[in-house]
Amino acid sequence: MSKADELKRQAAAKALELVEPGMRLGLGTGSTAVQFVELLGARVAQGLDVIGVATSERTRVQAQSLGIPLADLDDLPELDLTIDGTDEFDPDLRLIKGGGGALLREKIVAAASRRMVVITDASKAVKRLGKFPLPVEINRFGAEATRHLIAREAAAAGSNGPIALRKDAAGQPFVTDGGHYIFDCAFGIIPAPEDLAARLSAVPGVVEHGLFIGYARAVISAGAEGVTIYGSLA
Ligand code: 5RP
Repeated sequence: MSKADELKRQAAAKALELVEPGMRLGLGTGSTAVQFVELLGARVAQGLDVIGVATSERTRVQAQSLGIPLADLDDLPELDLTIDGTDEFDPDLRLIKGGGGALLREKIVAAASRRMVVITDASKAVKRLGKFPLPVEINRFGAEATRHLIAREAAAAGSNGPIALRKDAAGQPFVTDGGHYIFDCAFGIIPAPEDLAARLSAVPGVVEHGLFIGYARAVISAGAEGVTIYGSLA
């Protein structure tokens, strides 16, 4: 296992301590969430009784392969705990997510959860959000018009920079589980995340953006010096 994966696994193992029998869990997406789902699967195999809601088809396939019981939000609209990764977090536990393209379902699941706890390696900590290009999920209809409106609204919030349509490995537009496109917005440091979030949400073609503000209760971050908890695990 790579050093980076070891750190992700340490954070995942710490998060697993929060899981109690009978819990309804949101299961995140990405290489850090993969570690959590793997550890959870091992506990389920030993008899732990939980039920999960996956934030992506990838996670659903992994969880199913490990025998983790799954439901969808229509059957289970309220969750106890969501464990997910992040692309960045700041000292106020504001996040940029969506590097793995699952931000819409991740946000829906996080919003349905009493608690969201983020697991990560220490490289994702930033003083100010924006080093990682902000993913914005958009409806395919009128994508170019939506790009213009995003640029206009972002500029009004003090954020400027290239807005690129995400492509897949074959060079085709990346399509999310929900059938949408993603713009990766390389704005650099975001001076006003709340303002930007509100403005992006008001653009009709924007399905969801990757700013997660007010969602994370805690961040479990694993680094060379061990595991650090930001916020509260309670
Ligand atoms: C997927 C996400 C992921 O949580 C984020 O990209 C972090 O991924 P990783 O754990 O692989 O670094 O938001 O949409």
